[in-house]
Formats: sequence, structure tokens, C-alpha cells
Amino acid sequence: VSPSARRELARRVADRYRACGRFARHYVAGKLRWDPVFAALLEESVHAPFGRVADLGCGRGQFAAALLQEGLAESVIGLEINPVLLANARRAMATLPFEGICRDLAADPPDIPAVDTVLILDVLYQLPTDAQARLLEAAGRRTRRLMVIRTMDPDLGVRTMATNLLEHAGRRFRPHARAGVNARPVNWISDLLKRAGFAVEIAPCRAGTPFSNVLLLARKAPRL
Ligand SMILES: C[S@@+](CC[C@H](N)C(=O)[O-])C[C@H]1O[C@@H](n2cnc3c(N)ncnc32)[C@H](O)[C@@H]1O
Repeated sequence: VSPSARRELARRVADRYRACGRFARHYVAGKLRWDPVFAALLEESVHAPFGRVADLGCGRGQFAAALLQEGLAESVIGLEINPVLLANARRAMATLPFEGICRDLAADPPDIPAVDTVLILDVLYQLPTDAQARLLEAAGRRTRRLMVIRTMDPDLGVRTMATNLLEHAGRRFRPHARAGVNARPVNWISDLLKRAGFAVEIAPCRAGTPFSNVLLLARKAPRL
């Protein structure tokens, strides 16, 4: 996608958030224009559209909104614990096949719908370790094709420190933010996914930032 096409797409999706207030609209536009995870999603969609999607910890749901609007996902179920963010997502996607459900992903056991693709973007490191393992295992069982996980790499020195600082600073401005930062080693996540039957690709996902974000693309191996 060319920079101008991405800018136009970000503008059109952000317009959906007009009724959610200026901050939400600018936040969405910024995420869609600059966050490298969105570029990675667009690139991945070239291989195949995402089909039925579960966006775990969807927040305002800007990535779901963009995928639905572009016809890259058939439907999205967003699970989110924060009712304010979920209300924004529902309002912005009122005319799209989006269902927003208020749910605690740290519940034991986590309740995850069966879908083609699961997105877990910047959520995992907010959960306690045992909840992260449970969530990955449950999502792995319910995913038919692909899991896209972005998390923070805890072993990247200065980059990890910068990401931690940003997360902690962000918490001062986000009264609804709940958990602390509990990033697990990337190999811990990928080993768990491999045991669940996925082939895992790991790549940095932090273009142009000083942060330690990393992307895991986990493809379910076809049953022979
Ligand atoms: C950094 S935001 C990322 C939001 C969205 N995935 C994105 O990429 O824009 C993390 C999200 O996870 C949600 N979250 C954190 N803990 C959760 C839990 N236990 N259950 C459900 N959602 C949770 C937060 O409310 C927040 O919306």
C-alpha cells in the first residue's frame, strides 16, 4: 500500500470514530498511519484474507475496522475488558460485521470463539504469566489458520527499557489501564505456539521507533 493510499485509508477509518471524540479519532488515524503492525497486517493479507477474526483485547478496534472496511476480514469479534473502548469500537463499526463482547481474557478458562484468524496486539504483556499461557493455549485451539501476536521483547536492553517507560507513562494518562508490564521472552511464546501445532515466524515490528516490539505470525500446520 502506497503512503498516500494508507493515509486515505486511515482518514476514512478515523471518520468512523467521529462520534467518539477528537482524541479517539486522532488516535485511530495515527495508529493506522504509523503503526508498523498495520503494515504487517496488510502485507499478510496479500497471501489470503483473514476470514472470520477474533481481535483479543481489541481496544478501540481500529485494526478490525480497517480490515472490515477493506474487505480483508469477513467478520470480527472483539473481546475487550474496557467498556469505554469497547463502546467506541461498537459505535465506529455499527455498519460493519463487528461484534464487541466485554470479556476478561485473564479468566480461567478464557472463552475464545472459533475463528480463522486471531489477533493479539499489544495485549499479552498486560496479563499475568499463567493467564498468558492459558490465553495462548485456548486461542491456539480455537484458531483455524493464523495467529498474529504483537508483544514486547523483554530481552532487548535499551529498547526494552524505552518500551517499559512508555507503557508506564501511558498508564498515568489512561485511568482505565489495568495491568503492569509482564513481557515474557519471545521464545517462551513461540515454544508454546509450536507445541500447539503452529509454525512460527518472528520479526521485529518497531520500524522507526526506539521500542522493542516484536511480531509473531503463527500458522497452523495442516493436519495430514
Ligand atoms: C495496548 S492496548 C491494545 C489495544 C488494541 N489491541 C490495539 O492494538 O490497538 C491493550 C488492550 O488490552 C486490553 N486488556 C488488558 N487486559 C485485558 C483483559 N484481562 N481482558 C480483556 N482485555 C484486556 C486493554 O483494555 C486494552 O484495550
